Amino acid sequence: MKVLVIHGPNLSLLGGRDPDVYGRTTLGQINDMLEERAAKMGHSVKLFQSNHEGEIVDRIIGEADWAEAIIINPAAFTHTSVAIRDAIAAVGIPTVEVHLSNIHAREEFRQKSLIAPVSVGQISGFGVRSYLLALEAVGKLSPKK
Ligand code: DQA
Repeated sequence: MKVLVIHGPNLSLLGGRDPDVYGRTTLGQINDMLEERAAKMGHSVKLFQSNHEGEIVDRIIGEADWAEAIIINPAAFTHTSVAIRDAIAAVGIPTVEVHLSNIHAREEFRQKSLIAPVSVGQISGFGVRSYLLALEAVGKLSPKK
Protein backbone atom coordinates (compact mmCIF):
# COMPACT_ATOMS: atom_id res chain seq x y z
CA MET A 1 0.00 0.00 0.00
CA LYS A 2 1.24 3.50 -0.85
CA VAL A 3 0.35 5.73 2.07
CA LEU A 4 0.41 9.51 2.16
CA VAL A 5 0.83 10.76 5.74
CA ILE A 6 -0.15 14.37 6.37
CA HIS A 7 0.51 16.31 9.55
CA GLY A 8 -1.33 19.60 9.96
CA PRO A 9 -0.45 22.88 11.62
CA ASN A 10 1.78 23.13 14.70
CA LEU A 11 2.59 19.44 14.70
CA SER A 12 6.20 20.33 13.83
CA LEU A 13 6.34 21.60 17.43
CA LEU A 14 5.60 18.18 18.94
CA GLY A 15 7.95 17.25 21.73
CA GLY A 16 7.80 20.68 23.32
CA ARG A 17 4.19 21.62 22.61
CA ASP A 18 1.82 21.00 25.49
CA PRO A 19 3.52 17.70 26.46
CA ASP A 20 0.81 16.80 28.97
CA VAL A 21 -1.64 16.59 26.07
CA TYR A 22 0.57 15.57 23.13
CA GLY A 23 3.49 13.77 24.78
CA ARG A 24 7.22 14.33 24.36
CA THR A 25 7.80 12.53 21.09
CA THR A 26 8.92 14.82 18.28
CA LEU A 27 7.46 14.80 14.79
CA GLY A 28 10.80 13.52 13.48
CA GLN A 29 10.58 10.56 15.85
CA ILE A 30 6.98 9.88 14.81
CA ASN A 31 8.01 9.95 11.16
CA ASP A 32 10.93 7.59 11.84
CA MET A 33 8.57 5.18 13.61
CA LEU A 34 6.10 5.34 10.74
CA GLU A 35 8.80 4.70 8.14
CA GLU A 36 10.22 1.78 10.09
CA ARG A 37 6.83 0.21 10.79
CA ALA A 38 5.63 0.79 7.22
CA ALA A 39 8.73 -0.89 5.81
CA LYS A 40 8.10 -3.94 8.01
CA MET A 41 4.50 -4.08 6.80
CA GLY A 42 5.49 -3.66 3.17
CA HIS A 43 3.93 -0.20 2.80
CA SER A 44 5.64 2.81 1.29
CA VAL A 45 5.00 6.16 2.93
CA LYS A 46 5.33 9.78 1.92
CA LEU A 47 5.43 12.14 4.90
CA PHE A 48 4.31 15.76 4.78
CA GLN A 49 3.72 18.51 7.34
CA SER A 50 2.28 21.93 6.66
CA ASN A 51 0.85 24.82 8.58
CA HIS A 52 -1.05 25.93 5.46
CA GLU A 53 -4.49 24.68 4.50
CA GLY A 54 -3.97 25.25 0.77
CA GLU A 55 -0.68 23.33 0.78
CA ILE A 56 -2.43 20.37 2.37
CA VAL A 57 -5.18 20.52 -0.26
CA ASP A 58 -2.52 20.75 -3.01
CA ARG A 59 -0.69 17.73 -1.60
CA ILE A 60 -3.85 15.60 -1.40
CA ILE A 61 -4.66 16.43 -5.02
CA GLY A 62 -1.04 16.22 -6.17
CA GLU A 63 -0.52 12.73 -4.73
CA ALA A 64 -3.92 11.41 -5.78
CA ASP A 65 -2.46 9.25 -8.55
CA TRP A 66 0.23 7.83 -6.24
CA ALA A 67 -1.53 7.40 -2.91
CA GLU A 68 -3.68 4.36 -2.17
CA ALA A 69 -4.47 5.51 1.36
CA ILE A 70 -4.14 8.68 3.39
CA ILE A 71 -3.38 9.02 7.08
CA ILE A 72 -4.05 12.57 8.19
CA ASN A 73 -3.79 14.44 11.44
CA PRO A 74 -5.38 17.67 10.27
CA ALA A 75 -4.69 19.23 13.71
CA ALA A 76 -6.65 22.49 14.12
CA PHE A 77 -7.96 22.21 10.53
CA THR A 78 -9.95 19.18 11.72
CA HIS A 79 -12.45 21.55 13.20
CA THR A 80 -12.54 24.21 10.49
CA SER A 81 -11.51 23.05 7.04
CA VAL A 82 -14.20 22.49 4.46
CA ALA A 83 -11.40 22.70 1.86
CA ILE A 84 -9.47 19.70 3.22
CA ARG A 85 -12.68 17.76 3.69
CA ASP A 86 -13.71 18.46 0.08
CA ALA A 87 -10.27 17.47 -1.24
CA ILE A 88 -10.41 14.12 0.56
CA ALA A 89 -13.93 13.51 -0.73
CA ALA A 90 -12.97 14.58 -4.26
CA VAL A 91 -9.95 12.29 -4.65
CA GLY A 92 -11.83 9.34 -3.13
CA ILE A 93 -8.71 7.87 -1.49
CA PRO A 94 -9.54 5.92 1.69
CA THR A 95 -8.49 8.13 4.58
CA VAL A 96 -7.89 7.51 8.25
CA GLU A 97 -8.10 10.53 10.55
CA VAL A 98 -5.66 10.52 13.45
CA HIS A 99 -5.31 12.50 16.65
CA LEU A 100 -2.80 12.16 19.43
CA SER A 101 -5.28 13.42 22.02
CA ASN A 102 -8.87 12.28 22.46
CA ILE A 103 -10.60 15.21 20.79
CA HIS A 104 -13.97 14.05 22.15
CA ALA A 105 -12.78 14.50 25.74
CA ARG A 106 -11.49 18.04 25.18
CA GLU A 107 -12.98 21.51 24.62
CA GLU A 108 -16.30 21.57 22.82
CA PHE A 109 -14.83 23.21 19.71
CA ARG A 110 -12.48 20.23 19.26
CA GLN A 111 -15.24 17.66 19.52
CA LYS A 112 -16.51 18.32 16.00
CA SER A 113 -14.52 16.99 13.05
CA LEU A 114 -15.31 18.10 9.52
CA ILE A 115 -12.96 15.39 8.28
CA ALA A 116 -14.52 12.37 10.03
CA PRO A 117 -17.55 12.10 7.70
CA VAL A 118 -15.29 11.72 4.65
CA SER A 119 -12.88 9.33 6.41
CA VAL A 120 -13.09 5.58 6.75
CA GLY A 121 -12.53 6.04 10.47
CA GLN A 122 -10.94 8.11 13.19
CA ILE A 123 -8.28 7.08 15.72
CA SER A 124 -8.07 9.54 18.56
CA GLY A 125 -6.48 9.54 21.97
CA PHE A 126 -3.65 7.00 21.84
CA GLY A 127 -0.76 9.42 21.54
CA VAL A 128 1.90 8.33 19.08
CA ARG A 129 0.23 4.92 18.90
CA SER A 130 -2.71 6.57 17.11
CA TYR A 131 -0.47 6.84 14.04
CA LEU A 132 0.73 3.24 14.32
CA LEU A 133 -2.84 1.99 14.71
CA ALA A 134 -3.76 4.00 11.62
CA LEU A 135 -1.00 2.27 9.70
CA GLU A 136 -2.42 -1.08 10.73
CA ALA A 137 -5.87 0.07 9.69
CA VAL A 138 -4.86 1.19 6.19
CA GLY A 139 -3.40 -2.24 5.42
CA LYS A 140 -6.92 -3.61 5.64
CA LEU A 141 -8.59 -0.97 3.49
CA SER A 142 -9.94 -1.67 0.05
CA PRO A 143 -8.16 0.56 -2.44
CA LYS A 144 -9.88 3.34 -4.35
CA LYS A 145 -12.38 2.05 -6.91
C1 DQA B 1 -4.81 17.27 17.44
C2 DQA B 1 -6.07 17.79 18.13
C3 DQA B 1 -6.49 19.14 17.56
O1 DQA B 1 -7.65 19.62 18.22
C4 DQA B 1 -5.39 20.15 17.77
O2 DQA B 1 -5.73 21.38 17.15
C5 DQA B 1 -4.05 19.67 17.30
C6 DQA B 1 -3.68 18.28 17.52
C7 DQA B 1 -4.30 15.95 18.06
O3 DQA B 1 -3.49 15.29 17.43
O4 DQA B 1 -4.69 15.60 19.18
O5 DQA B 1 -3.23 20.45 16.84
O6 DQA B 1 -5.12 17.01 16.08
